[in-house]
Order: sequence, then C-alpha cells, then structure tokens
Amino acid sequence: MTQSIRLALVGCGGMGLRHLHGLIELKRCGFDTVDLVAVCDINADHAAHVADVSQDDLGIKPQIYTDLAQLLVSEKSLDAIDLVTDPISHHTLACMAFDAGIHVMIEKPMGVTVRACHVIIESAKRNGCKLAVAENYRRDPMNRLLKAVIDNEIIGVPYLVLHNHIAGGGSIMSGTLWRHQKHRGGYLIEMGVHYGDMLTYLLGDIDEVYAATAIFEEHRARRGASRFYQHRLKNEPTSIQPDAEETAAATLKFGNGAFGQFTLSMAGHGRGVRTRQIFGAKGSIDAPGDRSGNPIRLKLDDADEFIGDSVLDLVPDFTLDAINQGLFGFERAGSYDLPFESIDHKLLAYEYQDFAEAIREDRSPEVDGDGGLIATAFAYALCESGYLGKPVSLSAVAADEINAYQAEINENVGL
Ligand SMILES: NC(=O)c1ccc[n+]([C@@H]2O[C@H](COP(=O)([O-])OP(=O)(O)OC[C@H]3O[C@@H](n4cnc5c(N)ncnc54)[C@H](O)[C@@H]3O)[C@@H](O)[C@H]2O)c1
Repeated sequence: MTQSIRLALVGCGGMGLRHLHGLIELKRCGFDTVDLVAVCDINADHAAHVADVSQDDLGIKPQIYTDLAQLLVSEKSLDAIDLVTDPISHHTLACMAFDAGIHVMIEKPMGVTVRACHVIIESAKRNGCKLAVAENYRRDPMNRLLKAVIDNEIIGVPYLVLHNHIAGGGSIMSGTLWRHQKHRGGYLIEMGVHYGDMLTYLLGDIDEVYAATAIFEEHRARRGASRFYQHRLKNEPTSIQPDAEETAAATLKFGNGAFGQFTLSMAGHGRGVRTRQIFGAKGSIDAPGDRSGNPIRLKLDDADEFIGDSVLDLVPDFTLDAINQGLFGFERAGSYDLPFESIDHKLLAYEYQDFAEAIREDRSPEVDGDGGLIATAFAYALCESGYLGKPVSLSAVAADEINAYQAEINENVGL
C-alpha cells in the first residue's frame, strides 16, 4: 500500500481541533501520507466547526457525520479513523471501526478502564487491524534526547525518580466537565496515563504502586480554556462538584530496582510545580517540561553542569528519527525555541505519520495497544491503591485482576 491513508477524524472537541492542526502541520512539513476525508461528532456544531477550519487551513472540505456507524457505511474507501472523543466512548467506537476492518488511532487514555483497553486490544487483533495510541509527550525531541542519555547510562544506572505535577487548583481542566467525573475518566486518569507512559518509556517497567488519593477540591469553576476549546464550550456548564480524585501521592517500584516518588494534583493553588528529576550512581538529571523545548540540565560528580547543547556531547551517536527530523528541521538539538502550539501540532503530526507508516509498512506503531494498556493501568493503579489503602502490582491491575475502584465505571458502561 503506497497511497495516502484515507482517514476520518472522530471527535471534534478541543483535542479534535488540535489533531486537525497536527494534520495541517504534517502536510506543511512535506509528509503527504494522510488524507482527511470525513469528520464526525455527535454534536453537529463541533463537527461543522472542524470541517470549516479544514476547508480554510487545509484546503479540504471533509464530509460531516454525527454518527460513526453511518460514516463507516458511507465512506467506502476509508482506511482509518483517528478517535478523539472523550474516553467513555473509546472502546465502543474503536470496536465498531475494527469490526468494519478499519485501523484506529486512539487518543489516550486508550480506554475508560483497563477492561475497556482489553476489549479494544482483542477487537483489533480479531479483525487484523492496526491499533495506535496517541501518546504525544515521549515524541518530544527533548524526551528523545533524555532517553538516549539514560539508556547510555551517562548518570549511571538510575535508582530514583522524583516526579511532581501540582497545579490548577479550583479550575475545570480545559473547561470540560468529564475530566472531573469518575465515570468518564477523571483527572488522575487524564494526566496519569501521560506520566505512566513517560516513566515506563524512560525507566522501564513499573512493578508496584502505593498511592494515597483524594478529592481536595469540592467545587471547580471554568477559568478559561485554550482557543481550541472555544467552539466546544458554548453549552458546557461552568461549574462542577467533582466526583473523581484529583490528587495522588505515590511511591513506585520499578522492575530494575529503582524507586519513584510521584505526585500528581490538580488541587494546586499558589505557585504550581512540574518537575522530573532522575538520580543515578554517577549524577542527576533535571528534565525539562514536556513540550517546552527547554534544555536538560545534567550534573555529574566532580564536573560542571551540562545544559542543553553540552548534553549532546555526552551522547555523540544520538540523532532524532526521520519523522522528527522532518517535522522539527534538525538532526538533534540541546534545546529549541518554538511556541507551545507549534510544538503541540508537530507532535500530533508525528503520531499521524507513525500511524500511517505502521499501516503502510505493516509494522506496529510506536505506542500500540500494549503501551496504551500499561499507561492506563498505571493511572488506575494510583486509584486502585488509594481505594484499597495498600500497594498494588501494576501487572495485576493491567491484567484486570485488581479492579475494585473501576467496578462502578465498568458497570456504568456495561463491561
Ligand atoms: N494527548 C494530549 O495532550 C491530549 C490533550 C487533550 C485531550 N486529549 C484526549 O483527547 C480526547 C478528547 O479530549 P477533548 O479535550 O477533545 O474532549 P472534548 O470533550 O473537548 O471533545 C470530545 C468530543 O467528542 C465528541 N463525542 C463524544 N462522544 C461521541 C461519539 N459517540 N461520537 C462522536 N463524537 C463524540 C463530543 O461531542 C466532543 O466534541 C480524550 O481522550 C483526551 O484525554 C489528549
């Protein structure tokens, strides 16, 4: 298969619009691998808005649908869908597409529960279709460099990671209520999957999670949202009483013996924090914020600090892969200076290109069903451990053997 992938974008909310900009960036950077043929959203206004932006900025007016089943019947030569609905519908819509022989890229979290992830994986396998998960953080050129530094043991074998993200007190994330509702995939799931993926990507398998979790904020109100959400929020209520935990403080044990200290909270008032520090036998790393372009800071015993380009000297063989080189325009860099939106669109473009190549070359995408499952299991391990008040094995959560916290979510969606 050498022609472009014929794709439908399903879910035209805030992230759906960002994905469209990822497609625009893909084409702008010379990758002619994905053709947008249709958009779909149960809210016709959302779908129409994204279709209009596509016409204006991509030069393509996609067909508009409000029902995926109808789209799959009507779009006879479709190859793939990009599933960017909110998590509660991921398994139903993905399985519908797989049953029609269509490949699927799904935004994280892959499923609304671990069980939903298994349903998706089994359906993809049964139907012989590609399943990719849109985890964007790891594709950041700074995280590619960070992984090369760790893999080359520049700081020795890592034994400790401190990971903190505390921000957003009182506000509704992206103005969307579902991010604070347990049955629809709350905040710890929304952000926890990103960090489960990143920690596994950088440091390998996580064996055990021991977390305390809580809802500290009883009320939240909309305090603005990015421009990508403006069409989406017209009829969305502006306040909520959350029923999904927004805070987790955890210790982690990695398969290689390393420990982690992990804090994730959207109850952070005052000065927020986003840090990722990794300690090894010979030195330490302060990782930059994901999608910031900021430099890595690395300190070895008895040596000056390495920052940005000087970190590159420590990994002379490291270069970015061809997709990132094509999108970012450099072979490697110790830092880069781009606006957030531009970085965001390039990383989404990366996901499309990897997905298209996986279909064309009949290979696995970088983040496949198993990767999406582990990231989702990490996020739910926080919740399961907090609920049970004891450590949980990540592999047992991933196998759906520990699921007491998720029971009512599974029941709600009939799983
Ligand atoms: N990787 C990232 O950085 C990142 C950032 C934001 C969101 N996301 C993920 O993207 C997904 C969407 O998030 P969002 O912020 O755009 O949410 P959103 O609520 O803004 O958009 C979801 C859209 O899906 C539509 N929808 C719901 N059910 C549908 C169905 N059955 N058929 C068709 N359309 C349906 C809704 O009407 C809405 O327009 C989530 O899984 C979220 O976690 C990822």
